[in-house]
Amino acid sequence: MTDSSKDRVYIFDTTLRDGEQSPGATMTHAEKLEIAQLLDEMGVDIIEAGFPIASEGDFRAVSEISKRSQNAVICGLARANLRDIDRCWEAVKHARQPRIHTFIGTSPLHRAIPNLDKDQMAERIHETVTHARNLCDNVQWSPMDATRTEWDYLARTVEIAIKAGATTVNIPDTVGYTAPAESAELIRRLINEVPGADEIIFATHCHNDLGMATANSLAAVDGGARQIECTINGLGERAGNTALEEVVMAMKVRGDIMPYTTRVDTTKLMNISRRVATVSGFAVQFNKAIVGKNAFAHESGIHQDGMLKNAETFEIMRPEDVGLAETNIVMGKHSGRAALRSKLKDLGYELADNQLNDVFVRFKWPTARRRSMTKTSSRWPPPMPPRMKTALSSNRCASSAAPRGHNQPP
Ligand code: KIV
Ligand code: ZN
Repeated sequence: MTDSSKDRVYIFDTTLRDGEQSPGATMTHAEKLEIAQLLDEMGVDIIEAGFPIASEGDFRAVSEISKRSQNAVICGLARANLRDIDRCWEAVKHARQPRIHTFIGTSPLHRAIPNLDKDQMAERIHETVTHARNLCDNVQWSPMDATRTEWDYLARTVEIAIKAGATTVNIPDTVGYTAPAESAELIRRLINEVPGADEIIFATHCHNDLGMATANSLAAVDGGARQIECTINGLGERAGNTALEEVVMAMKVRGDIMPYTTRVDTTKLMNISRRVATVSGFAVQFNKAIVGKNAFAHESGIHQDGMLKNAETFEIMRPEDVGLAETNIVMGKHSGRAALRSKLKDLGYELADNQLNDVFVRFKWPTARRRSMTKTSSRWPPPMPPRMKTALSSNRCASSAAPRGHNQPP
């Protein structure tokens, strides 16, 4: 299937708003501008640049990002009151394509906070979305905690927002409570049952409290959502938001069952992931999908042997597709002769089989005690215990066809 025959999914990045809200992830003004520029260059469709009323710093950052961005729609967040919306507009109005995103919590728990009954809240939604739409022709509305809102009330409020002029309706799973089948069904039902729903874009905004944010977002797309809200490295409140790199690569790699396309240049993913990790101070876990240190690294002998013969045996993506130069063959205690031979060849050493056996034993000894060996390890080769030295000197004379133990890696 070609990209042009696939449905377009818009990527809405909220690293600078929901991501920056994570405790301890505060970024400086200059860092926010840098990340916004990287997002814009990477092909993100909408950048949620901040919450303008929250602080003077947020207002300045959203205004400046609005002035600088070349391609993306620039969005600011506002609660459901006129002051917030006006302040948001003041910040985003400089953008080539501005968007106001206004929200209110619609679930029973969230309705209790402003102490509004259902009718009063419905009236507030009508008033605030209408006000936003009078300022800006691109308005997004979110019923916060949508996935714990009664179906009838959710459908009613979505209809009100559409009638008041919302061009995108976002369905947040604010507390990471939903599951994939439910996420798809909710969007499908809204599109089928709410009058006017076919004229706007539905978005999905998932949190990762149960580790299902990526699956829930992709399921929502299956149900008809055409905007995914996400962050770099999955940064965000509590367990974070849907990770941008995961949904984008999932749709790219599994285009056969998810026939959707985005504008994201995936070769820029690794760089932006590293920059966000640095400026937010939130390190990326080693085994994080797509951008983790180990996502394209192999240490076990069987995997390394397979990789050296055909990379597709153990990798479903090419490292260069996400901006990595190459797969990392890590030499460690699980590595085998094939990988060692290849590593040595890269370093300019072509060894006969008996020499390789010799080096292999020397290599295995320290790696059993260290996590891994690299060219840069400080003391190479490390000292060996006397018993092993004796074993080695007899091995030195062994024939090149020295038998392998049955449980030795290839
Ligand atoms: O998680 C959430 O509900 C939000 C809204 C403000 C969209 O971040
Ligand atoms: Zn959120």
